[in-house]
Amino acid sequence: MNILLLGSGGREHAIAVKIAQSTQCDQLFIAPGNAGTAACGTNINLKIDDFSAIAKFVLTNDIRMVVVGPEAPLVAGIADYFAADSRLKEVMFIGPSAHGARLEGSKDFAKQFMQRHNIPTAAYRTFTAETLDEGCRFLTTLQAPYVLKADGLAAGKGVLIIDDLAEAQHQLQLMLVENKFGEASRSVVIEQFLSGIELSVFVLTDGKHYKILPTAKDYKRIGEGDTGLNTGGMGSISPVPFADKDFMHKVEHRIVMPTIKGLQKEQINYKGFNFIGLMAVTNDKGERDPYVIEYNVRMGDPETESVFPRIKSDIVELFEATAKEKLNLASLHVDERTAACVVLTAQGYPESYKKGDVISGLDEVSGVTVFHAGTKFDDKDRLLTNGGRVLCVTALSDTLPSAILKSIQNAELIKWKGRYYRHDIGQDLLKLLCK
Ligand code: AMP
Ligand code: GLY
Repeated sequence: MNILLLGSGGREHAIAVKIAQSTQCDQLFIAPGNAGTAACGTNINLKIDDFSAIAKFVLTNDIRMVVVGPEAPLVAGIADYFAADSRLKEVMFIGPSAHGARLEGSKDFAKQFMQRHNIPTAAYRTFTAETLDEGCRFLTTLQAPYVLKADGLAAGKGVLIIDDLAEAQHQLQLMLVENKFGEASRSVVIEQFLSGIELSVFVLTDGKHYKILPTAKDYKRIGEGDTGLNTGGMGSISPVPFADKDFMHKVEHRIVMPTIKGLQKEQINYKGFNFIGLMAVTNDKGERDPYVIEYNVRMGDPETESVFPRIKSDIVELFEATAKEKLNLASLHVDERTAACVVLTAQGYPESYKKGDVISGLDEVSGVTVFHAGTKFDDKDRLLTNGGRVLCVTALSDTLPSAILKSIQNAELIKWKGRYYRHDIGQDLLKLLCK
């Protein structure tokens, strides 16, 4: 069958590689894609928020399956657009309805959903400009640090964690009254700070059944030792060593099952990925308990670049089973090895950065997969940087230390002016293993 994948980052390159490997895939189109996805199929110059142009492309190219990478078109209702059109509704669509996508698009919706279904998460309250004074008083009842979350999508910047009470109250005012994050901060969720280790759990669901994909941990800060500004992600490791059988049993029973049951009970049409950001909090007995920090309605980036290379099953068969609500009949086989992914960024990222530098050294790497995030070819077929996050180097190996070493050694071989990467991806997990 012909398949269309929407998106243009490292996540989409990793998904495109798996789709292209499938015996079920005839032609793969990626819109808009990047220089890496061009090697897996055909890049198409379509805007992912232009639903009618996407629909036209699907109809004229006999596309039988659409897979959505990023959240924005899902929150804007692309799945519903397809479902409502008699010519498109038979197309297998991987991505939830706008209703389902509210799990990511509205923090307040997600918190209420978790509350309704007894899913462990931080205690919270939601405030608007009208209830600003109440919000400021509520902050005085909490202990520092204070967690303030813009309700809507804010390009990953809408969460503030603040040590000082007066500053937290000031920021609350800026968010609610001065529209610090625009429309996204018309409502603000204030929640209890959870202390622990974060990890990401990925679920593929057809709305009734589910498969838990490999776990991963990502590294969001720009600086080594998790310092400096937040980024789109500087690397990832899969699996997370402490997410053992006991921990994952808790995750499945306390979080994944009630989430899927909740979607069903509320008749939310959800066929796609559910990415659960978790905090593993140590309890009185010294055991780790999972709490939900956030839901996303897509795969993570750069987690996909370490999770997808470990999926051995045919991904298109899994997607087909998802679309047909037969995921219970599909099987998921996972490579037991560890994947380490190191992200190479442009100088200056995540603040302003330069594009258009010539990338060299890609022909020197060996034994790793290099996923493209922000790249393009110029008219002389030279590979150029075309984003803040440029490339992701993923190594698979039998042990975590050797996977880390392999990805770092190969990352070092790839060069352009000012390229940067973190040398400490996975080091925190290594320390935990040695404890
Ligand atoms: P979110 O966009 O909800 O994932 O939040 C961004 C980041 O803020 C998370 O990855 C966590 O590192 C942190 N965070 C969010 N909520 C909490 C919380 N309740 N306690 C501690 N850290 C949090
Ligand atoms: N790596 C975090 C995210 O994709 O949101």
